[in-house]
Amino acid sequence: MQTDVFSPELSSLVLAVPDNPLRALYPYNTRPGMLNLASGHPSRDAYDVEGLTEASHRATLDATAWSYGPSAGDPELIAALVALTPPRPQGHRLIVTSGAQQVVDLALRSLARPGSTVLLPEPVYPAILAICAAAGLRVSGYRVTAEDPDLTDLGRLLGQVGVSALYAQPTFSNPGGETWSLPMRKRLLELCAAYRVSVVEDDPYRFLSFAGAPPAALVELSAEVAGSVVIWAGSLSKILAPGLRLGWAAVPQAIAQPMTDLRQAGDLQPNSLAQRVALRYLELDRLDAHLSRVRKLYAARRDRLAAALARADFTLEPAAGGMFLFPALPEDARAEGLFERALDQDVLYAPGPAFALERGDHRLGNRLRLCFAGLDAETLGTAARRLVAALKE
Ligand SMILES: Cc1ncc(COP(=O)(O)O)c(C=O)c1O
Repeated sequence: MQTDVFSPELSSLVLAVPDNPLRALYPYNTRPGMLNLASGHPSRDAYDVEGLTEASHRATLDATAWSYGPSAGDPELIAALVALTPPRPQGHRLIVTSGAQQVVDLALRSLARPGSTVLLPEPVYPAILAICAAAGLRVSGYRVTAEDPDLTDLGRLLGQVGVSALYAQPTFSNPGGETWSLPMRKRLLELCAAYRVSVVEDDPYRFLSFAGAPPAALVELSAEVAGSVVIWAGSLSKILAPGLRLGWAAVPQAIAQPMTDLRQAGDLQPNSLAQRVALRYLELDRLDAHLSRVRKLYAARRDRLAAALARADFTLEPAAGGMFLFPALPEDARAEGLFERALDQDVLYAPGPAFALERGDHRLGNRLRLCFAGLDAETLGTAARRLVAALKE
């Protein structure tokens, strides 16, 4: 029997969502022998498998794991997450989400009306561009650099009509590996408060600091800056397991309910089983020891990769935490075709232009984002040698 072929007209919003250039790299990683410097995933040996196994077993014994639950998250997990959340102004509430990604999504959609502009750091983690496109938001790029301590450039952008929110990633950024100083953080909050622009602070790498505590989070500092509004996003992905798909937000009271309603509209609530696994894991009291092992592991890997790149005349600022280096190629290097030559050498990296605000903008063409977290130190050495060989081809 012949059926009518019907192609539904798609929403202009979904058509505007850009491909995620990082997810587009996944198929290359399945090639046998490929060394992956592209993906920001914890390495296999950085999971606390024993602890997660025990926590999963305990979680399955609990009927709560198999039931519907509150849209804002499991109250017992929320209570356990308080200890992991930066200090925040009175009245902030915690809500559990499907990763930091969903915090940013819910926050921007709650704060920014369609057609308004969201300010994004440049270079940017590209999944944020997809959030903005799906919500019908315009984007504009800003830079926070030591050369502009008064953030005059940002002040100018904030003064433009129609800016509704600013997304910030001030600690161990992805891709740049940068961390803003305390004065810059305060200045940013003062400016945003002056222009009545809310800030979404994406902070999934805070716990991966290699040299002492990172600077105070924007959400903490917002208590000292009258009129500033910060929604903070945390994640269990980089410290426990991304497959749990759990993050959480610290949100001013007035925005917590709208964000929860929006979440409920999409998928009702966070996954109950994953939340119970996380709760039981936190109850095991293993997180501190686990994190101190992971920090040492990643710091040694950063050192190994940074040293190999410096020997090959790359220019880089070694990140003080997180997972990424964002080096510039040596002066005389041939950037064109490097990605393909690297694939031929069985090494995968994320090209700089993947982090531009606009597709086709090649100003970051001499940059590579390299994740040092996913491979052991020796394999990182091999990956760096392959990259250098690709450069010399
Ligand atoms: C800056 C940034 N934000 C958000 C995310 C997404 O994190 P989650 O797995 O918690 O959704 C990532 C993951 O790489 C990231 O680098």
